Amino acid sequence: MTYAKRFLSLGLATLIAASVTAAQAPAAPEKGPTAMVAAAEPDAVDAGLKVLKAGGSAVDAAIAVQAVLGLEEPQSSGLGGGSFMTYYDAKTHQVTAYNGRETAPAGATAELFYGPDGKPMPKGQAIVGGRSAGVPGAIAMLHLAQSQHGKLAWKDLFGDAEHLAADGFHVPARMAAAAASNAPQARQPDAVAYFTKPDGTKVQPGEIMKNPAYAATLKKLAAEGPKAILEGPIAAEIVAKLHEGPYPSAMTLKDLASYKPKATPAVCRPYREYTVCVPPAPSGGPAVLEGLGILQRTDIDKHPNDIQGWYLFSQASRLMYADRDRYYGDPDFVSVPMEGLLAADYLDARAKLINLDKAGPAPGPGNPKGAGPRAPDRTKEPGGTTHLVIVDKDGNAVSMTTTVESIFGDGKMVGGFFLNNQLTDFSFTAKDQDGAPAANAPAGGKRPRSSMAPAIVLDKQGRFVAGAGSPGGPSIIAFNLKVLVGLLDWKLPPQEAVALPNLIAFDTVYASEPAKFPPGVVAGLGAKGVALRGGPFGEGSGEQAIQMTASGLRGGADPRREGVARGY
Ligand code: DON
Repeated sequence: MTYAKRFLSLGLATLIAASVTAAQAPAAPEKGPTAMVAAAEPDAVDAGLKVLKAGGSAVDAAIAVQAVLGLEEPQSSGLGGGSFMTYYDAKTHQVTAYNGRETAPAGATAELFYGPDGKPMPKGQAIVGGRSAGVPGAIAMLHLAQSQHGKLAWKDLFGDAEHLAADGFHVPARMAAAAASNAPQARQPDAVAYFTKPDGTKVQPGEIMKNPAYAATLKKLAAEGPKAILEGPIAAEIVAKLHEGPYPSAMTLKDLASYKPKATPAVCRPYREYTVCVPPAPSGGPAVLEGLGILQRTDIDKHPNDIQGWYLFSQASRLMYADRDRYYGDPDFVSVPMEGLLAADYLDARAKLINLDKAGPAPGPGNPKGAGPRAPDRTKEPGGTTHLVIVDKDGNAVSMTTTVESIFGDGKMVGGFFLNNQLTDFSFTAKDQDGAPAANAPAGGKRPRSSMAPAIVLDKQGRFVAGAGSPGGPSIIAFNLKVLVGLLDWKLPPQEAVALPNLIAFDTVYASEPAKFPPGVVAGLGAKGVALRGGPFGEGSGEQAIQMTASGLRGGADPRREGVARGY
C-alpha cells in the first residue's frame, strides 16, 4: 500500500469509527496493552508474558525468554553465549547498558587466529575450533541486571524453559533448517548427535523434541545462579571441550570463574525530537548513533520510503560503516574515538560528503578527534543471534541482543547448550604492513567488537518511546538504523517499520531486498548510482520493536523469522 493510500485508509477508518461512535453509546477509547514481549519464538514470548503477569519485571521476563530461546532457537543464543542489553528504568528515567560480551581467555594473543604457517587461518577452520570460544557472559549479565531490577526470585524464572526441555517442545522450522544445513557447526559431532533421531534422520519441524540435559542445567542455574555454568562440573566440561581438536583454546577454569559483566550508563544522543540510547563500544550502538547523526542533517524525514529517502539512507550508511570498521574495538584495550565520531562538527563534515544527486566512490573512514593510526579492519562476522524487547506494566523496558555468534556457535555442546564462537568477531590480522594495530585485534581478557546495538528511544521528557534491535552480524547496524528511521522519521507502526526492505550499504556494496520496495524506487536508486544487489547477504534480520503510543503499546516482529510481539 502506498503512503497516500495508507493515510487515506486510516483517515477513512477514523471517519467510520467517529460516525459509529456518534450514533451509538459513547465507548471508552480502547486501551492497548500495557505490557508486552517481542522475541523470536512464540514459546519464549509466552514464558516472558507469564513472568510479567506474575508481577515480574522486564528483566525477570528477559531471563525466562532467554532460557526458552536457548532451547528453541539454539542456533542463535543461549547459556553459552554473550549479550548486550539496554535497560530503561521508568522511575528514574535512567538508561543503563549491560555488557555480557564474551571475553578472550587470559592466554589469548593477537595471533589467536594465525595458522601454523604464520598466516590468518580460513574462517571456516576458526569457527569450529576451541579457540573461537569466549567466556560466556549472557547469564552473568542477566543475573547482574536482575539483582538490580528484578522483582521475582531468580530461582522462579526458569520453570517454563525447564518444563519444555524436560517434557518436550515443538521443533521450530528455523531450528530444523539450521540443523539440516551445511553449516560446519551443524556437522560437528555434538550437533549431529543432538539433532539426529534414533532412526538416523534429523528432527523435523513440528516434531516433539526433548533436552533433558538442558532441563538439568536450568535446574542447577535456578538454584545456584551463574556459577552453575562458570564454576564446578559444567565449567570443567566447557574447558575440556574447548581443549579438544586441532585448534584448542587457552581457556582455563579461572577464565570462566572470573568473568565480570558490566553495567554502565548507556550512550544517548538526540535524534530530532527524541533521544536514542545504546550500549557503548565494543557494541555497535555508537555506530548507529553516528548513522542517525548523519541522517539528522538530511531531510530523510520528508521522504518516507521513497527514492530520495532510501538514497540518503544508503549514503549515510556507507559513511557510518567506514568509520565503525576502522575505529571500533574494546575500549578497555584500545581508545575508541567515540566522542570525536559523534561530535557535531564531525557529523556536519560527514553529512556534507553526501552528494545529494548521485553516489560517488566508496567513502573512507574520516579523521575524528582522538583517532590514532588504525589498521584497516579484517573482521568477518557470520550469523547466529537474536533480539528481544520487553516492556513491563510499570513501564520499565529491556532491549537485548543475545548471541552465540554463528549458527549453533562452534557446534560443541555442554549441559544441553551450545558454546559460542564469538572470538571470531576479532580481526584475524593484528596489524597492517606498517605495524599500525587493528582496533579489534585479539588480546587476553579483551571483548571482541560487536555489531549488536540494542536501542531504547526516549522523548524530550525522558519517557520511553520505543525499544528496537536485530541480529544479522555486521548488517545489524543497518537493520537497526532502518527500524529507527521507520519509527521516528517515517512514523510507521513497529510492524511496518520492521517489514521495510533491508538495505546494507558499505564500501561499493548495496545489498538489499529489491522486491520489497515500492514501485519505481529500485530504478530510481539505480539512476542515482545505487545499484541494489539482491540475493542472500550474510545473515538475515530478526528485527523486534515495541513502541509506546497514547493508546498503549504496539509491537512488531520481523516477518523474516518466527518471532511474535504479544501484550496484555
Ligand atoms: O556480536 C556480533 O556482532 C555478532 N557476533 C552477531 C552475529 C549475528 O548477529 C548473526 N546473525 N544472526
